[in-house]
Amino acid sequence: MEKCQVKALPGDGRLVSVFGPEEIAACVRGMAAKIDACYGEEPLVAVCVLKGACIFFSDLVRCLQNRNLELEFIRIASYGAATVSSGEVLFSKDVEIDIRDKHVLLVEDIVDSGRSMRFVLDNFAARGPRSLRVAALVNKTGRREREVTVDFTGFSLDSGFLVGYGLDYAERYRALPGICELVPE
Ligand code: IMP
Ligand code: MG
Repeated sequence: MEKCQVKALPGDGRLVSVFGPEEIAACVRGMAAKIDACYGEEPLVAVCVLKGACIFFSDLVRCLQNRNLELEFIRIASYGAATVSSGEVLFSKDVEIDIRDKHVLLVEDIVDSGRSMRFVLDNFAARGPRSLRVAALVNKTGRREREVTVDFTGFSLDSGFLVGYGLDYAERYRALPGICELVPE
């Protein structure tokens, strides 16, 4: 296990490097190529799920060749300061456009239990989009409780609590350039 260059704050555990910046960049480029192959120049609304997907989203959309791309943002929260889902999902910011008859791509950091994505998918599906797909940087499959099809996956993992590259633990570590596992001491 490679040590992360940054140390966790006292009490947070230990940071262990999982995916480095270059590996992430290559992965994001690969995902963008698949998304471009799927939509071509069809008008597409890419929806960033704040806050976790902010850095992934910024990198991903800049790799897309599609010039017919609209960027939107939503904010949901299913996690408090803990590393396990509270089970509650909150929709605190919505898109600012009507998505009826539009191709919509939800861009999420991690699909874990699937509760958050299921909530957004059901909510968005009811608005009649032309298509609705999910791009997730990390597909964590070990704790899935709701069925969610991740159409574009970056990395697949069984478990582990990850931070960095947008992912947080109690709002900390989002700005780390790579992805680390936060291992409890
Ligand atoms: P789910 O509802 O259990 O699928 O959780 C989804 C959300 O929880 C993700 O969008 C993340 O923001 C957060 N989350 C899940 N796993 C992790 C993790 O390992 N690190 C940081 N955030 C996580
Ligand atoms: Mg998230």
